[in-house]
Amino acid sequence: MKQYNVGIIGATGMVGQRFATLLENHPWFNVKVLAASPRSAGQTYQEAAGSRWKMTAPMPESMKDMVLLDATNDIEKIAGMVDFCFCAVDMKKDEIKALEEAYAKAECPIVSNNSAHRFTPDVPMVVPEINPDHIEIIKAQRERLGTKRGFIAVKSNCSIQSYVPALHPLRKFGLKNVLACTYQAISGAGKNFETWPEMVDNLIPYIGGEEEKSEQEPLKVWGEIKGNEIVKAAAPNITTQCLRVPVSDGHTAAVFVSFENKPSKEEILSLWADFKGVPQELELPSAPKQFIHYFEENDRPQAKLDRNLEGGMAVSTGRLREDTQYDYKFVCLSHNTLRGAAGGGVLLAELLAAKGYFD
Ligand SMILES: NC(=O)c1ccc[n+]([C@@H]2O[C@H](COP(=O)([O-])OP(=O)(O)OC[C@H]3O[C@@H](n4cnc5c(N)ncnc54)[C@H](OP(=O)(O)O)[C@@H]3O)[C@@H](O)[C@H]2O)c1
Repeated sequence: MKQYNVGIIGATGMVGQRFATLLENHPWFNVKVLAASPRSAGQTYQEAAGSRWKMTAPMPESMKDMVLLDATNDIEKIAGMVDFCFCAVDMKKDEIKALEEAYAKAECPIVSNNSAHRFTPDVPMVVPEINPDHIEIIKAQRERLGTKRGFIAVKSNCSIQSYVPALHPLRKFGLKNVLACTYQAISGAGKNFETWPEMVDNLIPYIGGEEEKSEQEPLKVWGEIKGNEIVKAAAPNITTQCLRVPVSDGHTAAVFVSFENKPSKEEILSLWADFKGVPQELELPSAPKQFIHYFEENDRPQAKLDRNLEGGMAVSTGRLREDTQYDYKFVCLSHNTLRGAAGGGVLLAELLAAKGYFD
């Protein structure tokens, strides 16, 4: 496979650090540029991020002495050094939109973990096992931006990566109503227990903006390309409650679902067991071999035991049973900073590379 030079914009942040560790020994992607805010620019990665390193794996040796560039003021320079960039920055939404578009217009494709462009109609929001075909909208996006190579592709919010994969293979039975309560880890807010001690022995029943994202994003992921845009799916009706819980990593969801045509429990279990997407068919380096795992034990999946399944890229499910108000209920879990953030971004980039979008 061809080798690609890549940059990480927002390299000093929580998601950026995860990108750095995931890309350290990547078979296709070589990190050539690290960039962050003007506050960090000019310092080495070790100087800027060493004291706020949040990963359990150490900072990659090969990146420690790399001097950070200024993500907002060095765009042309960065675009000239790499084939594409990952982006995960903490800025205002309109600033992120403008920043990502500026990179795309400088002919540097952006694979983004930010939410700013998730509802731009010609920006694909991709879970590679679910809607890999949405990357075909990039042609229309390039026409709008007037670029040859440059484009923006985004991954979805971390919360939906726990329950949408489990619902996806069941769509053929007509998903009607979905209720999902999510129990979300503190790393989703860029925190750990040292930086957020108030979360020890606590639960916060509110995560700003999360319920709207959790209800709307699945409909774009299940949408269709029509002309120059992705049109959202009309169904199912989704309602959510998103809670912050004292877990370091791993978002759990308790899901209730009703169908137009109710399947049997055996049909659901066999669809989960057999589900394979394009990443598995193409054997992309970060793809889990088995995307959806089902646990028979009543007390699984558990965040602490199961979040790292298949390098944190698989989705765990359990407790599938009939419900008195909906047809079925079940529980699912995914690693929010791996599958739900940087790992999902890397898998999307692998899909785009395999399909020739960085050439
Ligand atoms: N944490 C998660 O699980 C998760 C999951 C999915 C998506 N996301 C999204 O990913 C993004 C980053 O999240 P995070 O948790 O990694 O945030 P974070 O830890 O606060 O890191 C933010 C990054 O943005 C950079 N930055 C801030 N202001 C900037 C500016 N004006 N110009 C250029 N760079 C700037 C920071 O650089 P300095 O160090 O120089 O300030 C840092 O590298 C957010 O949009 C978030 O919604 C996060």
